[in-house]
Amino acid sequence: MANGFPLEKCRAIITGASSGLGAEFARQLAPHAEWLVLVARRADALEEVKKSLAGPKTQVHCCVADLATDAGREAVTAFLDAHGLKPNLLVNNAGLGDYGTFASSAADKTRMQLELNMTALTMLTHALIPRLQRPGGIINISSLASTIPMPALAVYAATKSYVTSFSEALAVELAGEGITVTCVCPGPTPTNFSKTAKRADGTDTDREGQGLLRIPPSQVVSLALDGVSTGRASVFPGTGVTIAGSLFRLMPRWILRRVLRRRFNKGTV
Ligand SMILES: NC(=O)c1ccc[n+]([C@@H]2O[C@H](COP(=O)([O-])OP(=O)(O)OC[C@H]3O[C@@H](n4cnc5c(N)ncnc54)[C@H](OP(=O)(O)O)[C@@H]3O)[C@@H](O)[C@H]2O)c1
Repeated sequence: MANGFPLEKCRAIITGASSGLGAEFARQLAPHAEWLVLVARRADALEEVKKSLAGPKTQVHCCVADLATDAGREAVTAFLDAHGLKPNLLVNNAGLGDYGTFASSAADKTRMQLELNMTALTMLTHALIPRLQRPGGIINISSLASTIPMPALAVYAATKSYVTSFSEALAVELAGEGITVTCVCPGPTPTNFSKTAKRADGTDTDREGQGLLRIPPSQVVSLALDGVSTGRASVFPGTGVTIAGSLFRLMPRWILRRVLRRRFNKGTV
C-alpha cells in the first residue's frame, strides 16, 4: 500500500469536470488546491463550474478538449505545457455508457466508450506520469459494473473491468515512485450519466433495484478523496456497493450468469 497523497495545496487535473462526479471533484478539491485544470468538451458548462468555485486562493483553468480523440488528448498536455503547469494529481473521471443490447447499439457510441473510458484514461495517464510531481496521485473512476458482465450494458461494464485491472496493476508499479493510484468503483449515482447512456429512440431496460445502492455524488467523491489521501488502491463507495462488489466477485461465475440470464429474459437488468 502506498503512503497516500496529501490533498493540501494539490495541483489537480480533472477530466469530465463539466458535470456530475467531475464537477463534484472540482468543488471538493478547490478549498485544498493551489490550482485546478477542468477538462471536458462543453466550454460553457466548464465556465459554470469554474464560476461556482469562486474563491480567493484557487486558480481554475478550463481546458476544452474531446478526450475521445488523439487530438483532444494531446491538447490537454499541450495546455499544461503552454501554461507551465506541473500537476501532482490526475483525476481520470470522464466516461460514458450505453443502455441496451450490443447487437442493437450504434457503432459510433460503442467506439466512443472504448476511446473515452479506456484509451483516454490510459494515454493521459501515460503522458502525465513523467509530468506528475511527487508525491503524486492518480484517481481512476471505474464502476461497480467492473465486477460483473452486464447484459444491456456489456461494452461499458467491459471497459470498466479494464479500468479496474489497469489501475490495480499501476498502483503496484507506482507505489515505489511516490504515486498513489486509487481506483473508485461507484454504484448508481445521480448525475447526467443515465441521460447520456439512454438511447435516443427511448428504448431502455428496466433497472429496478438500483435505488438500494444509490448514494449522492458528494459522498462518492469524499470517499474517493479519503481513499487517495490514505493510500487505498480501491474504493467501493457506500456499504451497499461494498457488499454488492464483494458478492459479485465471490459468486461462482456460472451462478452469476444464471442470475443475469433470468433478469435479462425478464427485461430487467
Ligand atoms: N453516475 C453513475 O451512476 C456512475 C456509476 C459508476 C461509475 N460512473 C463513472 O463516473 C464517471 C463520471 O460520470 P458521471 O456519472 O459524472 O456522468 P456525467 O454527469 O454524464 O459526466 C460525464 C463527464 O464526462 C465528460 N465527457 C463526456 N464525453 C467526453 C469527451 N469525449 N471528452 C471529454 N469529456 C467528456 C462530460 O463533459 P462534456 O459533455 O462537457 O464533454 C462530463 O463532464 C464516468 O467515468 C462514469 O462511467 C458513473
